[in-house]
Amino acid sequence: MANPRWEFVRFTAITIFVSVTLLAGTCVVAASSQDPVVQQELDRVLHLPGQSFNVSFAHYSGYVTVNEESGRALFYWLVEAVEDPQSKPLILWLNGGPGCSSIAYGMAEEIGPFHINADGKSLYLNPYSWNQVANVLFLDSPVGVGYSYSNTSSDLLNNGDKRTAADSLSFLLKWFERFPQYKGREFYILGESYAGHYVPQLSLVIVLYNRATADKTINLKGYMVGNALTDDYHDHLGVFQFLWTAGLISDQTYKKLNTLCDFESFIHSSDACEKIQEIAYKELGDIDPYSIFTPPCKANVSGSNLLRKKMHWIGRISQKYDPCTEAHSTVYFNLPEVQKALHVSPKFAPAKWETCSQQVNEHWKDSPRTVLDVYKELIHSGLRIWVFSGDTDAILPVTSARYSIDALKLPTVKPWRAWYDDGQVAGWTEEYEGLNFVVVRGAGHEVPLHKPKLALTLIKAFLSGTSMPTLQLVSDA
Ligand SMILES: *[C@@H]1O[C@H](CO)[C@@H](O)[C@H](O)[C@H]1NC(C)=O
Ligand SMILES: *[C@@H]1O[C@H](CO)[C@@H](O)[C@H](O)[C@H]1NC(C)=O
Ligand SMILES: *[C@@H]1O[C@H](CO)[C@@H](O)[C@H](O)[C@H]1NC(C)=O
Repeated sequence: MANPRWEFVRFTAITIFVSVTLLAGTCVVAASSQDPVVQQELDRVLHLPGQSFNVSFAHYSGYVTVNEESGRALFYWLVEAVEDPQSKPLILWLNGGPGCSSIAYGMAEEIGPFHINADGKSLYLNPYSWNQVANVLFLDSPVGVGYSYSNTSSDLLNNGDKRTAADSLSFLLKWFERFPQYKGREFYILGESYAGHYVPQLSLVIVLYNRATADKTINLKGYMVGNALTDDYHDHLGVFQFLWTAGLISDQTYKKLNTLCDFESFIHSSDACEKIQEIAYKELGDIDPYSIFTPPCKANVSGSNLLRKKMHWIGRISQKYDPCTEAHSTVYFNLPEVQKALHVSPKFAPAKWETCSQQVNEHWKDSPRTVLDVYKELIHSGLRIWVFSGDTDAILPVTSARYSIDALKLPTVKPWRAWYDDGQVAGWTEEYEGLNFVVVRGAGHEVPLHKPKLALTLIKAFLSGTSMPTLQLVSDA
């Protein structure tokens, strides 16, 4: 998802990593209140550096301690709905990696209101922000990601799916104490890529917790994942088939991928599988595998200064696709004044803030080869479950989503059809018993980055539990 990704070519559901950074191990006592509701007011963000516009919504950011013994704290950023936040649902957004920041991707280039200009210093308002329809909570998870930290440095070498889910539950329970106005609110969990693990796993621990305690704080109504890692075997089949069908790899490589990698883990694969994946990557050439038809980011942070002069920034809505968004957030979120505004004390701040932590990624522990068992458990628990897929992504492509869903063997309720936006086919959809599948046409790995308007249509349909729009013959214009 950024520039020098080829140095770390690993054919996994991950993004790239530029450099390894260790979190500052020492911390001092930060001023904070014991009263959670008082802490809510302290977390209020009043103004962001580079924000030249006013916003009508409130937003909050700060830390929630999820484990006192080790000193693990997760960083969150809540943006309330633009209008009438009391009547809108609460959604939690998670990015993947493992090791990538939901602030870097979700907030700053996908569904959040604050996006970053190419100067890395100023902000613009995303006209398709999902806080038009919901209160949106971004969480940097697990520790070692974004601004989230641990006082026990070995924690960063021992992240895995299980602890991530447990810490996230612990985060939510404490967060609702700080924001009691959201207790019992309709709640949805959303995410993409490796969050294809986090989202159903967290949903399951919440369902089990609610069952065991009869606690009504977390009113989980459903979850939705996009370009999500779901089942290593079926996802792999889909990747290889997509690469070959899109004409990106040779016949020989296609065959070898299928024989050397078919039963491999996505996160922990064998040397033989990794070797053939590297060959496959070389065959792709210098394209952006996360979005195969858009240009890759050529510039690094300093280089983008030159590029910027040629780009024509004409207002927000017509802003052109910028492949270098990650470079901009790397500048912005390292600014001391930005960290101060977001309540990130220099004592806890990472030595260098990164969009993705290579350290977290490389030391990932447990990563089950499938979460389809979790789907099977949750599909009958009454949750609304949607899966979407941008169809120009080669990392976790639409073919992977289809093979994985097919493996669930769910009966079809409404057959495959196109869905529409402004009279154009915007994608395809099929509704199964217990699961809706939505393809977003022309979108890459990060659907809301590439197709922001369609993504907003998607979240509206998901939250209202309605089918994707059909072709409207009568214009209401
Ligand atoms: C980490 O350690 C510092 C210094 O002892 C302390 O102030 C801080 O609260 C600790 N963080 C957590 C999450 O426990
Ligand atoms: C933001 O609001 C303040 C106070 O109402 C006002 O003085 C200022 O002009 C506004 N800024 C913009 C850019 O609209
Ligand atoms: C990236 O920037 C550094 C200077 O910060 C420069 O030395 C390097 O050549 C640049 N790399 C590319 C690919 O532009």
